[in-house]
Parts: sequence; structure tokens; C-alpha cells
Amino acid sequence: MVTQAEKRKILFVASEATPFISTGGLSEVIGSLSKALAKRKKFDVRVVLPLYSDIKQEQREDFEFVGNINVPVAWRNQYCGVFRCKREGVTFYFVDNEYYFKRKGCYGHFDDGERFAFFCRSALEIMPLIDFFPDILHCHDWQSALALLYLKTIYCRKQEYANIKTLFTIHNIEYQGTYSIDNLQWLFGIDSYYQNIAEYKGCINLMKGAIECCDKFSTVSPTYAEEIKNPYFGFGLDPIVRRNASKLCGILNGIDPDYYDPQKDKAIFANYSATDIANKSVCKEQLQRMLNLPVRPNTPVVAMITRLVAPKGLDLVMAVADQALERDMQLVVLGTGEGYYEHYFRELALRYPKQVATVIAFNSDLSRQIYSGADIFLMPSRSEPCGLSQMIASRYGTVAVVRETGGLKDSIIPYGAGGNGFTFCNFNAHDMLYVLNEAMDLYKDKENWQKLIVKAMKTDFSWKKSAENYVELYDSILTQ
Ligand code: GLC
Repeated sequence: MVTQAEKRKILFVASEATPFISTGGLSEVIGSLSKALAKRKKFDVRVVLPLYSDIKQEQREDFEFVGNINVPVAWRNQYCGVFRCKREGVTFYFVDNEYYFKRKGCYGHFDDGERFAFFCRSALEIMPLIDFFPDILHCHDWQSALALLYLKTIYCRKQEYANIKTLFTIHNIEYQGTYSIDNLQWLFGIDSYYQNIAEYKGCINLMKGAIECCDKFSTVSPTYAEEIKNPYFGFGLDPIVRRNASKLCGILNGIDPDYYDPQKDKAIFANYSATDIANKSVCKEQLQRMLNLPVRPNTPVVAMITRLVAPKGLDLVMAVADQALERDMQLVVLGTGEGYYEHYFRELALRYPKQVATVIAFNSDLSRQIYSGADIFLMPSRSEPCGLSQMIASRYGTVAVVRETGGLKDSIIPYGAGGNGFTFCNFNAHDMLYVLNEAMDLYKDKENWQKLIVKAMKTDFSWKKSAENYVELYDSILTQ
């Protein structure tokens, strides 16, 4: 029996987490990794989140009010209410301030810098109130980077905070949180004495600051950890990554196999499992019907569920879509993003009404209907820190065709090498088309295709191994 005092105390600071609020993969990782860690009796895992007004009422039913404090944001003091709830062994705290978080959407407001400064400062200020000083403060992406800077520049001189160790996880190096220099003092409330920690290329760069002052940092796949040392992937931060490389490691994300389970999923048209996949064809038929595509059981359905932005490799698809659609196939696209891509895929569906269906939306039920009803899942990303969709697709028996980058390379092994999907190496439209055609050729070979489906479904994408890697990483930080 591990007593409370013996437990390792981990505090996640993150801007989103399932099941409360989600705009993408980050939330799923915060939700499922915290749960996987909390299953280990040795860990007391807690998560701090902003109390966005977008968090639905049904999620708030069991929220308890813990108390309220004042939190300094540069020269002001702001109200901070604290709520708490417990889910599957993890304690979640929500910091409340309506001025900052009673708005539509999590990001994209003119004062995001100030909003997340308040959030990060709150994460440290609430520790006495919640009576929890973690062994490891584990921050995720730029929105929580300031918590590490505050710890290093302000709080570490206080006795209770002095022993807190830190880990910073980069889910996407593209978004760094950059602000003009004068914000350091008047907005973020950090003395100019520390300017060199956060300054980069004439600006305040919060991600850079976090990399400099954390004990260790990580990315969400081993390949991405190597890639971001290079200018092609580093978005300008590669020199900082290289300089701090001895603190860096990559751990592949997992998915929550209970949530993504074709045998239990209530959102899909019919349930199935790796031992009995017959109902997958029901899912396909219903999907085709729902999307107004001809119901054709032997036509491969290729799906893309993605943010419609350039790093996802959409330009490759655009370059060869007409050529690809010359053969008997259907393409289903679900996502939102840049107008340029939204317009293109809408228009493609108008030009090929019998072959292409485009839905411009972010819809979790529909996404799982597509994961279960499609045959092939296409993910030609230019860069992909980890990517969860290829894992979810595989779990639903939809064979992934991916470019070998970041987590895609670490999770999908080429069919030719006895693996669970198809891959191509260069960011080249015809290389992609060649491999996509290979997949569609194999699709006709029913026996081998079925075997591949089963192989994909049986690949272990759970947190089992990766959570263990985090445990080892925490241990190495605590003993260093
Ligand atoms: C970001 C990355 C994605 C990763 C996710 C969770 O959204 O772009 O590749 O899977 O974070 O770590």
C-alpha cells in the first residue's frame, strides 16, 4: 500500500483536456495520459485548466468550489476562483475569471498573452489553497510555458516551491507564443533582469523561455524530437533545441483504448472487433448513405480527418486529386481550417458528387463514423509531432497511409516490412499517389486486406508503454 505521502505528485498545466474542452490532439493527450498515470498507485496526478465558458454544463455538475484568491497579473491583481472535480483517479482544477475566459473559443483573442499569463500565474498561486506542491510541474505547449518562467524567476525562492522540478512537453513547435519585448515586464510581470531567458530574435518567445528554464523537455514522438533540431521542422527554434538537446527526449503519445473502441462505441453505426470485423461493412454502407455517396461495397473509401492547414500536406492531395479520382475510389474529407483549403475541398465535392464528400466541421461523432466506415486513412503531413488520427483509424480497422514524419513514422510501419499500414518518405504528391494506389490495389485482394485490417486493429496504441516512459522520465528528473 502506497501512502499519500509516498506518492509522486504530478501537476499538469495545460490549456485543454478531454472530456472538458477540446480543439485537437493536445486535449486528448492531457485527458488520457493523466488517466494512465493515475492508474499507477504511486502517482497523485492533478491537472489545472482554465474555466472556459465553452465547458458544457453537463461536465460541471460535480464541480466543487474550493475557494478564491487574488492573482497578480503584472501590476494588477485579478480575481481567481478555483473549482475542483475528480475523474477516473485524476483531480482537475479549473481557474475561473470571467473577464479572461467567458468568451467563445479557447484561443485567438487579442489578449491571449494576458489570458495565459493569468492562467500560468494562477497555476502557481493556487498551490497553497489546494495544498498541493507537486514534485513535478509538467507544462504543455506555449500556453503553459509562463508557469515555468514564473517558477524560475519568482516562486523558486519561496521554500514550498523550491524543490519543484519541471518538465515541458512540446506538442507542436510551430506555436511559440511570441510577444514584443516590452511585454515581459508590464504584461507578464517578469523583471527585465531575466530578459535573456525569454528573449529570442528580438521578441519574447515563451516556448524558448520554457525550454531554457525547464529541467527537461520532451516532444510527443521520438522522431519529432530529432526533427526539431533541424531548421525544416524547428520553426526558427532549432538552434535553441540543439543547444538544449541533452535535456530533450521524445515519447510517443497513446490513445485511450476504452474511448476509441469499435466494439463499444455508441456513435458508430454498428459495432465490431478485431475478431469479428463483419459489421465494419455496415458502417461503410451507412457512411456512404449518410454522405450521399453511391453505396458501393467494393469501392475503397479514403478518408481524411484533419485541420485544413498547410502542415497537414493538403497541397499534395490537391496536386493529384483529379488523377487519383480517375480510378474507382471515394474520398471523404472532414475538418475546418484555412478558407483556401475549405474552398478547394468543397469545390472538389461539387465537381465529383459521386466520389467526393466534404464536411467542413469539427464533429467527434461524425469523425468516429468516418473512422469506422472508411477503408483507408490518408495523412500526408509535411510535419506531424505525433498525430493521433492514424492510431484511431487503425484501431477502427481503417488502414493508414502516411508520410514518414514525426509520430507517423513511429506508429505506422510499412506493409512491405510486415507492418500495419502504408508509408511514403518524400513530401511529394506522386510518391503519395503511388503508395495510395498500392494500398488500393491491395484492397482488391480481400484475403490479405482483411489480414492487414486485423493487424492494424491489434497494434497496441494504448498508453501502456508510453506512460511507463514518462514514469522513467519523471524519475530521472527527480534524481538528477
Ligand atoms: C498537436 C500535434 C499533434 C499531436 C498532438 C498531441 O496537436 O500537432 O501531432 O498528436 O499535439 O500531442
